[in-house]
Amino acid sequence: MIRIKTPDEIEKMRIAGGVVARTLDHLARSIVPGKTTTQDLTALAEHLLAQAGAAASFKGYRGYPSAICASVNQVVVHGIPGPLPLDTGDIVGIDLGAIVEGYHGDAAVTVPVGEISEEAGRLLRVTREALYKGIEQARPGRRVGDIGAAIQEYAERHGYSVVRDLVGHGIGRSMHEDPQVPNFGKHGHGPRLREGMTLAIEPMVNIGGYSTRTLDDHWTIVTKDGSLSAHFEHTVAITARGPDILTVGPDRGGISANG
Ligand code: MF3
Ligand code: CO
Repeated sequence: MIRIKTPDEIEKMRIAGGVVARTLDHLARSIVPGKTTTQDLTALAEHLLAQAGAAASFKGYRGYPSAICASVNQVVVHGIPGPLPLDTGDIVGIDLGAIVEGYHGDAAVTVPVGEISEEAGRLLRVTREALYKGIEQARPGRRVGDIGAAIQEYAERHGYSVVRDLVGHGIGRSMHEDPQVPNFGKHGHGPRLREGMTLAIEPMVNIGGYSTRTLDDHWTIVTKDGSLSAHFEHTVAITARGPDILTVGPDRGGISANG
């Protein structure tokens, strides 16, 4: 069952979404290559969420131990923060969910650590653009498959593959609601999109094949072939005026590490 939100509910989600966006921006800018660990990032996230009067959506979710997921290089998603410093040349996906007054916001960015390779930079750019191709389809009358198809077409046109094992999702009072929002699919297929639906759209794009594998910690998902992977996510409301991205701050500068 897809839960339709009232305009008031969407405004509450925008508050949670703003906290998520500002926190992600702050985390990305805090990274010092060779020094900052992903544990530092999750500690900072917890501090910033508490300051904003928000709670972390992920911590404790099915036993997940942290406020953020931090997914480095060949890690697709759900990397658990740890004590190793991020290094120049790494890319790190930072995924954060926050809950304010009972409503969730969920977003992710993948950021460069210091100077990165041209290949990695291109992956980040294309994955971010693929997210916006998907968001562009989030309009009344379109279908869930239009979102996935637009993302898949864009990523594959650039020679990359789209992960099949994880998908985006409806979001609201729960972090995960119906419908599932695959980042692949066919135009004109799947549930019809209606005004008041709120979706977390989150493409995961690999340089190599789309297959993944879960590490022994039961969380960390890596590319099977060891290729680099990137992940970007926004929470979006479907409105009569088109897609309304809820995970942006008032200070909506670009999100990037080390300036
Ligand atoms: N953005 C991811 C999702 O929507 C993050 C969930 S991580 C978890 O599924 F730890 F909370 F599961
Ligand atoms: Co999500």
